[in-house]
Amino acid sequence: MALGLPSLASFSVEILPEIDSTNTELMRRARAGRTEPTLLVAEQQTAGRGRMGRSWQSSTGDSLTFSFGINLAPTSWEGLSLAVGTSVAQSLSPVNGESIQLKWPNDLWWQGRKLAGILIETSAAPTSQAKERFAVVGIGINIRQREFDANLSTQPAWLQEISPTSSPQMALERLFAPLLRDLLEFERAGFAAFSSRFAARDGLAGRQVALSDGSQGEARGVDGSGALLVHTSQGLQRVASQEVSVRPQTLS
Ligand code: BTN
Repeated sequence: MALGLPSLASFSVEILPEIDSTNTELMRRARAGRTEPTLLVAEQQTAGRGRMGRSWQSSTGDSLTFSFGINLAPTSWEGLSLAVGTSVAQSLSPVNGESIQLKWPNDLWWQGRKLAGILIETSAAPTSQAKERFAVVGIGINIRQREFDANLSTQPAWLQEISPTSSPQMALERLFAPLLRDLLEFERAGFAAFSSRFAARDGLAGRQVALSDGSQGEARGVDGSGALLVHTSQGLQRVASQEVSVRPQTLS
């Protein structure tokens, strides 16, 4: 079977000064039958969305906010957000020294603070291939220090702490081609191709965590499908739902 993602060159690239949300827009287009490979970058989002119905705040020049839409037909979709996070963390980490960590399932962390978030949504693809879906991968990265809502549960980090000359454009140029290559790998081999790279950046492993379902325990990495493993008083619990939030109880 011929597998293959569109090359970078075949993406239509749009940079918009303002839109409600790049994810919302690509999902709107998908519902209207428009599923061509598209990279949509917004300088400003007026209704940026995060996981679990949260909002994603950013302002022009301070952040990189983009989504891309792509048809994918992996054998299993499990672990996609972890694979995307692993790819982006690897692209943006300094060559030497401390690396960007991943907080299951979708966050990039720098020194215990949130650097970036990922929101993945899918819709049926207009194709005869049953397992193919149109995936919208949305990524928001804090680039420059700015005022943040003091009520944020996790304090932010920004890319200029790691690379002082970073800009939204530089970050996108650095991460996008490797991310497409990694998606091709995910489509071919699934999360298994990323599990050791994820483990090397797992910011929760070995830490006490509290889950939004009320349970708590020690994070013990992820299983082969990307589900979080937590050792609780009831034994080893497998957390697969992305609708469960996980909070480390102590930050280093
Ligand atoms: C999260 O941390 O909860 C996920 C945040 C994802 C934010 C990005 S910014 C680009 C894209 N458009 C959105 O509305 N959300 C994603």
